Amino acid sequence: SDRVVLGPLVGAIDQGTSSTRFLVFNAKTAELLSHHQVEIKQKFPKEGWVEQDPKEILQSVYECVEKTCEKLNQLNIDITNIKAVGVSNQRETTVVWDKTTGEPLYNAIVWLDLRTQPTVERLLKIIPGQNTSFFKTRTGLPLSTYFSAVKLRWLLDNVEEIRQAVRDGRAMFGTIDSWLIWSLTGGKNGGVHCTDVTNASRTMLFNIHSLEWDSELCHFFDVPMEILPKVRSSSEIYGLMKMCPSLKSGALTGVPISGCLGDQSAALVGQMCFKDGQAKNTYGTGCFLLYNTGQKPVLSEHGLLTTVAYKLGRDKPVYYALEGSVAIAGAVVRWLRDNLGIVKSSSEIEKLAAEVGTSYGCYFVPAFSGLYAPYWEPSARGIICGLTQFTNKNHIAFAALEAVCFQTREILDAMNKDCGIPLSELQVDGGMTNNKILMQLQADILCIPVVKPSMPETTALGAAMAAGAAEGVGVWSLNPGDLTAVTWERFEPQINPEESEYRYARWKKAVMKSMGWEI
Ligand code: G3P
Repeated sequence: SDRVVLGPLVGAIDQGTSSTRFLVFNAKTAELLSHHQVEIKQKFPKEGWVEQDPKEILQSVYECVEKTCEKLNQLNIDITNIKAVGVSNQRETTVVWDKTTGEPLYNAIVWLDLRTQPTVERLLKIIPGQNTSFFKTRTGLPLSTYFSAVKLRWLLDNVEEIRQAVRDGRAMFGTIDSWLIWSLTGGKNGGVHCTDVTNASRTMLFNIHSLEWDSELCHFFDVPMEILPKVRSSSEIYGLMKMCPSLKSGALTGVPISGCLGDQSAALVGQMCFKDGQAKNTYGTGCFLLYNTGQKPVLSEHGLLTTVAYKLGRDKPVYYALEGSVAIAGAVVRWLRDNLGIVKSSSEIEKLAAEVGTSYGCYFVPAFSGLYAPYWEPSARGIICGLTQFTNKNHIAFAALEAVCFQTREILDAMNKDCGIPLSELQVDGGMTNNKILMQLQADILCIPVVKPSMPETTALGAAMAAGAAEGVGVWSLNPGDLTAVTWERFEPQINPEESEYRYARWKKAVMKSMGWEI
């Protein structure tokens, strides 16, 4: 039968904390044509440690590309129409590898990992006033276990192979975007070692004003600058995909990789929040609310981060965002599935919660990695409280969903205080937004409407847009009106605000009880 002719297509790799996806979009309409997803293993070798295997991550990308291309072939869609590939990724997660062998020198230390708490405490002692916000004006970030600099410091302190590789000039550092782009563009045979401004802004080694690695910060963290990737814009041709033996079909060989954004920035672009004052909240492993502050960075007084939102082209201006980061959102569902076994699949949680429609006074603070915004409290640990003999797994499931919504309420409140103008509705996306109970609960707890795009893979869409719009590719316009395939669904608040406030106050009480539990 005949091939379907669609015009230019763009692919996006979305390498998240829980899974990897490859998605292919029609560049004219933003219609999602095909995709494939593979779950990523998480290793918890010690209490508070979270690692992933960089080779498994890379392999999962190849597998997703291969399977998506097979699906496109079955749909009679010609994969040679894929004109560019964009990368979006879990941010901060740190990899060091050997450029002569192409092999990682240690597992990736995942952003959620808490092993660097002693490193943070040690560094804090040599900061004037022991002030965690000391580098905030330069980096937008407080000193915390979350960002890459302390993870890299830990690797340099604890892994002899890495120290040796640095001495020999064989070591390369990167966040997941760098590891993937280097590997996909040839790896040890000439791979391109780069990152983009959004990912760089999460390392704590990057000056968000000059958009360069900061030599003083590198000196402070004692990080050798020669192992850092080159920092590029979020939309330009970084290199071409090389033939890879694991890609049986040779699909995508020679296609430019021309978009790169940390996943939360990618979602902001995918939601087309290009104007000052526009915001989105993405529900993935964690939950991240980004508010576009335009071309100037705004410093938070309420526990939010300042981050680079995007820079869509070498000669284009840089945009900044205020960010509210919640460490555990979807991860709480995965925990209920893998550690307690009360659901067999993540999607089952919706049914379980719907059967009761209330937590019956049970509150679940999933502070598995301490608490991020607005508290930044590393001593917090998860608690479930308010239990009675009546409480069952349905109530706990409901409380877990509610926790995601309460955490969002906390960061939205902080955002409203920092920005002065309260958001009148919240644009949301991410895998969890398929859960209608969650969406309704979120509107109820925020007391404002929640608006979700029909296609929740906004992160991938943003990466595809950046790749397709890059100079030298030019198949995607960044005019929001052109994306005709995107429609919206609204959830209006249905409970009265007093009830919502009452529950929120109880939640805050539970949060206070979660602090000070560090082993
Ligand atoms: O900062 C971490 C963030 O980028 C991870 O996103 O979607 O994997 O939770 P996600």
